[in-house]
This record gives sequence, C-alpha cells and structure tokens, in this order.
Amino acid sequence: MKRSTIVRSVAVIALSAAASVAACSIPSRDGAKTTSAHVGEPAAGPAPSESACVRCHREITPGVVGDWLASKHSQNDPVVGCESCHGDQHRDANDVAKVRTVTADTCKTCHGEQYEQFAKSKHALAWAAMNAMPTTHAKPVAMIDGMKGCGGCHKVGLKSEDEIKRLKSVGSGFGYASCDACHTRHTFSLAEARQPEACATCHMGFDHPQWEMYSTSKHGVRHGLKRDGALPESAAAPTCQTCHMQGGDHAVITPWGFLAVRTNGLAPYPGESEQWWKDRVTILQALGVLDPEGKPTGRLDVVAGAKVARLSAEEFDRERAKLMTACSECHSENFAKGELAKGDQMIEQIDRLLAEAIRIVAALYADGTLAKPASYTYAFPDLLTFHDSPTPIENLLFRMHLEHRMRAFQGTFHANPDYALWYGWSEMQQDLTEIRAMAEELRAGKK
Ligand code: HEC
Ligand code: HEC
Ligand code: HEC
Ligand code: HEC
Ligand code: HEC
Ligand code: HEC
Ligand code: HEC
Ligand code: HEC
Repeated sequence: MKRSTIVRSVAVIALSAAASVAACSIPSRDGAKTTSAHVGEPAAGPAPSESACVRCHREITPGVVGDWLASKHSQNDPVVGCESCHGDQHRDANDVAKVRTVTADTCKTCHGEQYEQFAKSKHALAWAAMNAMPTTHAKPVAMIDGMKGCGGCHKVGLKSEDEIKRLKSVGSGFGYASCDACHTRHTFSLAEARQPEACATCHMGFDHPQWEMYSTSKHGVRHGLKRDGALPESAAAPTCQTCHMQGGDHAVITPWGFLAVRTNGLAPYPGESEQWWKDRVTILQALGVLDPEGKPTGRLDVVAGAKVARLSAEEFDRERAKLMTACSECHSENFAKGELAKGDQMIEQIDRLLAEAIRIVAALYADGTLAKPASYTYAFPDLLTFHDSPTPIENLLFRMHLEHRMRAFQGTFHANPDYALWYGWSEMQQDLTEIRAMAEELRAGKK
C-alpha cells in the first residue's frame, strides 16, 4: 500500500468510528477527550516523544521504545503510537491488565490488503492445522498453548476471539498477533521481512529444514555472497520470498504442500501411474484420511478445511504455474519445468518406499501381531500420532515419514543434493530394511 493510501485509510477509520458504538475516549493534544476508533486512532495527540506511554516506557522497556522509534510507525504523520495497537486504557504499573491484546485484526485496520492476502495463506491456518493433530493433545501445555514447542511456530496462524479467551484462561499471555512472524515487533520492518532469515526460526530442523537446504544451495550461497559484496548487487540470487511471496503477496501456499499428497477429487492426479496412486492410497490410509477399506473418514474434512493436501488438479496446477513464473525470471522455462518434474518423480519414488513400510506394519495389525491401541480408530498404523505411537516399529515408521521422506523431496525441490540423498533417500532405504527386520522379529516373538 502506498503511504498516501494508508494515511487516507487511517483517516477513514477514524471518521467512520466517530459514529460507531466501538468508539472510546483517548486524550488529545490539549488534554481534552475526543472520540475515536478503538484501533487506528490517528494519534491526534502529542508527538511521539511526548506521549505518556513513550515517556514512561523509555524507562520501563527502553528496547521497545527504541525499536518503535526506528519504525515507520513512529515516523509516520500521523504517528502510529503505542496506543494505536495496545489501546489507551492502561496508564501505569497498577493497571497493566488493561492493555489491549494485539491480533492480526489490529493490523488489518490499517493494512487491509496484506491481511486479506494473509487470510488466504497456509500461514493463517497454522493454529488450526496444529490443533487437528491427535499428538497435540498429548503434549505439555507449554509446548502448545504456551507457544514453546509446536505453538512456538504455529502461533503464526489466526486465532478466533474464543480461542484467545481460552488461551488467556490457561495463562498463555502472548503470541496472538500473527503478523509479527516475519516483521517482528516493534520495528515492524519491511527490510527484515524481505531477508530469508525472517523465515529461518520456523522453517528449519527435523521435518522442514528449508533454511538449512536453501542456505547451502547455490541459490542461498549466491544470496549470501551478494550481501557480503563478493557478488555484485545485480547478481541473480533468489530468496525464499522470491519464490514464495512474489510481488509481496502474503497468500503463501505451495503446490504439493508439507505432506506432499495430492488427489483430484479422490481420484489420481491426471497422468499418474497406477502404482503411484495405489501407494498414495496406502499413505492416505496411514494418515487416517481414508479408512482401511479405502473410504473417506472424518479426517478428510479436517484436511480439506486446513488445506493439508491439494484435493484438485486445478488447485495444484494454479500454484505450480505461479512458481514457474518465479523460476522463469532467471531460468529457461525448459530448465525450470524439468527441475520441478524431477521433484515430482522423487515423490513417486519415495512413496514406493513409504507405502511398502506402511503395508508391513499394517499386516502386523491385521494378523494380530500388534494389538489395536485403545486410542486408535482402526487397527492400522496412524502416522499422525507422531512419536506417541505405541510401538518402536511405528515410531520408526513415523521418522521415515516425517523426517526422512520430507527431506528427500524438500531437498530435491530446494536444489540441495545432500538433503535429497543422504538425509532423505538413503535414510528411507535404511528405515525400510529395519522395519522389515523388526516385523520378522515381532512375528517370531509371537509364535
Ligand atoms: C507510568 C508508567 C506507564 C505508563 C504511562 C504506561 N505504561 Fe505500559 N507498563 C508500565 C509498567 C510498569 C508495565 C509492566 C512492566 C513489566 O511487567 O515489566 C507496563 C506494561 C505494558 C505492556 C505489557 C503488558 C504485559 O502484559 O506485559 C504494554 C503493551 C504497555 N505497557 C503499553 C503501554 C501503552 C500503550 C501505554 C500508553 C497508553 C502505556 N503502556 C503507558 C508502565 C507504564
Ligand atoms: C503496530 C502495533 C504496535 C505498536 C505501535 C506498539 N506495539 Fe507493543 N506490541 C505489539 C505486538 C504485536 C506485540 C506482541 C503481542 C503478543 O505477542 O501477543 C506487542 C507487545 C508489547 C509488549 C509486551 C511484550 C514484550 O516484548 O515485552 C510491550 C511491553 C509493548 N508491546 C509495549 C509497547 C510500547 C511501549 C509501544 C510504544 C512505544 C508499543 N508497544 C507500540 C504491537 C505494537
Ligand atoms: C493505525 C494504523 C496502523 C496500524 C494499527 C498498524 N500499522 Fe503498520 N503502518 C502504518 C503506517 C501509516 C505505515 C507507514 C507506511 C509508509 O510509510 O509507507 C505502516 C507501515 C508498516 C510496515 C512497513 C514498514 C517498513 O519498513 O516500510 C509494516 C511491515 C507494518 N506497518 C506492519 C504492521 C503490523 C504487523 C501491524 C500490527 C501489529 C501494524 N502494522 C499496525 C499504519 C498502521
Ligand atoms: C511469512 C512472512 C510474513 C508474514 C507472516 C506477514 N508478512 Fe507482511 N511482509 C512480508 C514480506 C516478505 C514483505 C515484503 C514484500 C515485498 O518485498 O514487497 C511484507 C510487507 C508488508 C507490508 C509493506 C507493504 C508495502 O509494500 O509497503 C505490510 C504493511 C505488511 N507486510 C503487513 C503485514 C500484515 C498486516 C501481516 C499480517 C496479516 C503480515 N504482514 C504478515 C512478510 C510477511
Ligand atoms: C528458487 C525458488 C525457491 C526458493 C529460493 C525457496 N523455495 Fe521453498 N519451494 C520451492 C519449490 C519449487 C517448492 C516445491 C513446490 C511444489 O510443491 O511443487 C518449495 C516448497 C516449499 C515448502 C513446502 C514443503 C517443501 O519443502 O516442499 C516450504 C514450506 C518452503 N518451500 C519454504 C521455503 C523457505 C522457508 C525458503 C527459504 C529458506 C524457501 N522455501 C526457498 C522453491 C523455492
Ligand atoms: C512463526 C513461524 C513461521 C515463520 C516466521 C514463517 N513461517 Fe512459513 N509456515 C509456518 C507454519 C507453522 C506453516 C504451516 C502452516 C499450517 O500448518 O497450515 C508454514 C507454511 C509455509 C508454507 C506453505 C507450505 C504448504 O503447505 O504449502 C510456505 C511456502 C511458507 N510457510 C513459507 C514461508 C516463508 C517464505 C517465510 C518467510 C518469509 C515463512 N514461511 C515464515 C511457520 C512460519
Ligand atoms: C520449528 C517450528 C515448528 C515446530 C516446533 C512445529 N511445527 Fe508444525 N510446521 C512448521 C512449519 C514451518 C510447517 C510447514 C512446513 C512445510 O510446509 O514444509 C509445519 C507444518 C505442520 C503441519 C502440516 C500443515 C499442513 O497443513 O500441511 C502440521 C499438522 C503441524 N506442523 C503440526 C505440528 C505439531 C503437532 C507440532 C508439535 C508436535 C509441530 N507442528 C511443531 C513449524 C513447526
Ligand atoms: C533470482 C534468480 C533465480 C530464480 C528466481 C531461480 N533461480 Fe535457480 N539458480 C539461479 C542461479 C544464479 C543458479 C546458480 C547457477 C549455477 O550453479 O551455475 C541457480 C541454480 C539452480 C539449480 C542448481 C542446478 C544448476 O543447474 O545449477 C536448480 C536446480 C535451480 N536453480 C532451480 C530453480 C527453480 C526450480 C526455480 C524456481 C522454483 C529457480 N531455480 C529460481 C537463479 C535463480
């Protein structure tokens, strides 16, 4: 949004709020009370350095005030002050509980365009997707509602008012703003959000090491050399944002997605081999989206709602075409198409390995070698129980799926040969060998 548009929309919010019930009182420059929006108050009040919030918080939290002074918010005319986001109800140490909670809706009042894009993104669904996992509810509260483990990254997702109320009631406190994931408080900087490091804290590690893969790929290495000045400013070097946030579009989503399963209305994607479809059905069964007979379960609705899989060829093709536009900026279309097709082929190959491993464990349930755990709906392996699966063989299957399969295809797409091969494919082969041997031992032990 251009600056003038923002300033205008700030003014419009203030005007429309004058007639709305949500209006509240904020002291103005001369100390008189004026009526204005509960959010988006165009700071008719004192200059930034003079506001009561800033004056006191210079002592209380100097780092916050310093960041805010460095931000576009403090430099704007009218100023976007502390009270624009936090409200004006808290005035001193005794009424801190009156601070208003900042959510994406707070930012939306002035940044509607980015909010609307974000709301369509996979990021917006992150809180819902996390909560849809059976494993989530077997974790210490700090890991989820306390925004430490799963919650520490998935807090980027939008939360309803009721959900925030619930979170506060269990004492979670912070982590409701979503929009501060890439431009962190209180600088809220565009320059920060444009660097690949803005994504690194969440897109790293066990099951999604995009940071490690990218930063050691030729793409990331060239970006680093360019920033160091070893390569000229004009050198072509894509960042995460070049490929995933083209033109600043906040509606981030990929063709295959995290789990790399796609269907075309519960039929194969056009042109896929029969074998691949069979393997995918097995994987969908282990994800609990199809039952052991192959019929859709209640989890399919959850998957559709949280966009965990691409469920139509049209959806997949649209996102693929978008990505191709990014590659074509630097590569020939021929080259880019070929490279992406290799990623697809890799998924076909790793699905062979994973499906075989799933069938081995499923057979153990089928012949009674393994008993159905009480928490399972079916006597069938459930990949979404994560590390909470009841047997070592299923824990290994979980690692094969979430750690090694992920690395194999994500490494292929992110131009990182080592992740694709050694951390991915090679590990999967070893997992399969071990699962075969463990299954034999389990059966022998039962006899
Ligand atoms: C007279 C001093 C004073 C003034 C004025 C003041 N604050 Fe505070 N504020 C505090 C103190 C003290 C705390 C608690 C700090 C702590 O927990 O370490 C606090 C905490 C906060 C917090 C954190 C809330 C939390 O739950 O931890 C926010 C946000 C905040 N103030 C915003 C504001 C805003 C916005 C204004 C102006 C409308 C303002 N403050 C005015 C002293 C002040
Ligand atoms: C553009 C919106 C915005 C403005 C302006 C803003 N804040 Fe914040 N502030 C946030 C967000 C977002 C959070 C994080 C909330 C969360 O995690 O739930 C936050 C958190 C805080 C916290 C508590 C967290 C911490 O790190 O200690 C304090 C204190 C605080 N703000 C003080 C201030 C003060 C003082 C000002 C003015 C100098 C200010 N804020 C201006 C958006 C804003
Ligand atoms: C009261 C209106 C208002 C609110 C609320 C508000 N902003 Fe802003 N924001 C602005 C204005 C005005 C600018 C300056 C635009 C410019 O200079 O181009 C700005 C600029 C920005 C920028 C660009 C900074 C840069 O380095 O160029 C980012 C990012 C941003 N805001 C994020 C946020 C986030 C995140 C929130 C919510 C936590 C938020 N804003 C809340 C009005 C607001
Ligand atoms: C996944 C990271 C990420 C998240 C989450 C995110 N942003 Fe951004 N944002 C960016 C990037 C990257 C840019 C810079 C895009 C560009 O280069 O033009 C940006 C740019 C902006 C700008 C400046 C636009 C301009 O062209 O001046 C604003 C304002 C903004 N974001 C607001 C928001 C708001 C509001 C939210 C939450 C609804 C949000 N952002 C969430 C990454 C993010
Ligand atoms: C040169 C372009 C490019 C860059 C740079 C890039 N990606 Fe990707 N990314 C892709 C492609 C291609 C895919 C797979 C697309 C598909 O599903 O067909 C992908 C997929 C993803 C996915 C979905 C799961 C997966 O890995 O397949 C995530 C998440 C992701 N990227 C995040 C990132 C992050 C974070 C960065 C930076 C650290 C980054 N990407 C850098 C092109 C890129
Ligand atoms: C605060 C953590 C956090 C940050 C920072 C973050 N992401 Fe994400 N990202 C997530 C989570 C969590 C998901 C999965 C969302 C879900 O569960 O619905 C995700 C999903 C994605 C996806 C979609 C994968 C798919 O399923 O199609 C892409 C692409 C992506 N992020 C790219 C980025 C890029 C690029 C950046 C930096 C500009 C970034 N993210 C910053 C946490 C983050
Ligand atoms: C370090 C940050 C981080 C932690 C910790 C984390 N996640 Fe994620 N999660 C992500 C990111 C980033 C993605 C998207 C990765 C991709 O697309 O490659 C994701 C993807 C997911 C998805 C898939 C969403 C989809 O729709 O495709 C689910 C479900 C999920 N995580 C649940 C969890 C659960 C449950 C936990 C805790 C046991 C957890 N996550 C811990 C960052 C994290
Ligand atoms: C901003 C420019 C830019 C964009 C966008 C870009 N690349 Fe690259 N890419 C490069 C450069 C430069 C290299 C290094 C060339 C070399 O190694 O000689 C490279 C290298 C690669 C490599 C390593 C293998 C090789 O032949 O060097 C692959 C694979 C690749 N890119 C695929 C893609 C794909 C797929 C996309 C789109 C998703 C993409 N790139 C987007 C600039 C870009």
